[in-house]
Amino acid sequence: MFMRTDSINHWDIVAEKYCAENRQEKNFHSQIYLAAVNELLGSVNGKRILDAGCGDGFFSLELAQKGALVTAIDGSDAMLNIAKRKHAHDNLQYLNMDLTKKLTFEDKFFDIVVANMSLMDIPEIELFIFEVSRVLKKPGIFVFSITHPCFFLSDWEEDENKTKMYKKIENYLDERVEELNFWGKTLHYHRPLSKYMAAIERAKMCVNSFREPVPSKELIDLYPEQEYHYRIPSFLVIRAKSI
Ligand SMILES: C[S@@+](CC[C@H](N)C(=O)[O-])C[C@H]1O[C@@H](n2cnc3c(N)ncnc32)[C@H](O)[C@@H]1O
Repeated sequence: MFMRTDSINHWDIVAEKYCAENRQEKNFHSQIYLAAVNELLGSVNGKRILDAGCGDGFFSLELAQKGALVTAIDGSDAMLNIAKRKHAHDNLQYLNMDLTKKLTFEDKFFDIVVANMSLMDIPEIELFIFEVSRVLKKPGIFVFSITHPCFFLSDWEEDENKTKMYKKIENYLDERVEELNFWGKTLHYHRPLSKYMAAIERAKMCVNSFREPVPSKELIDLYPEQEYHYRIPSFLVIRAKSI
């Protein structure tokens, strides 16, 4: 049985390694989903933004540099220490906050909430999405990126030339937690797409954009071996509106 705090403890341990590998300009995967996140955010100049599960704050800094007033929260002190050291800005404050608990912001405080690659890392999303709706102005927008819940936990199957071709999907509807080992041990909380949609609906928000982003042609020209991303999407980016 995993405790709530396990999700954060693991991130404390892997923080340095994750952050060293996760620079936007160097990281192939983040370039895929951040292009869609930026498209769905639109202009952020002058907007008050909450970056939830900000990690080392590289995206929070990007938002601040574009003129947003950014509050960036994460449950991992190790991540936040890196963020404060590497990605500081006058328009950006970092706070330790657990996304599975009530947030300490006033109602209708933010224009935008963004959450990159953090919702599948928390054991429960209902309260968080409700809190997002509460702290957003009406109207306000919530943009989040996650690994694609339909496909992420299934391994690629290759053809005789070792080309990644198919994925076999099993137990998609079963919510479960799995250990990953990309940067050291972290926990991945699988839940079907309908669970995300139901939480958004219950929080009285409306999904108004939905993307399954793939790498740009320029990116594939640089990394042709990643062409398999055109076969099955690895990420999902959703924009919901508070009304
Ligand atoms: C995959 S990283 C994403 C970080 C950053 N948004 C990015 O795109 O690089 C997941 C982040 O969620 C944070 N996290 C995990 N569980 C959390 C929780 N319960 N409360 C707050 N943050 C949490 C981790 O510390 C980590 O920084």
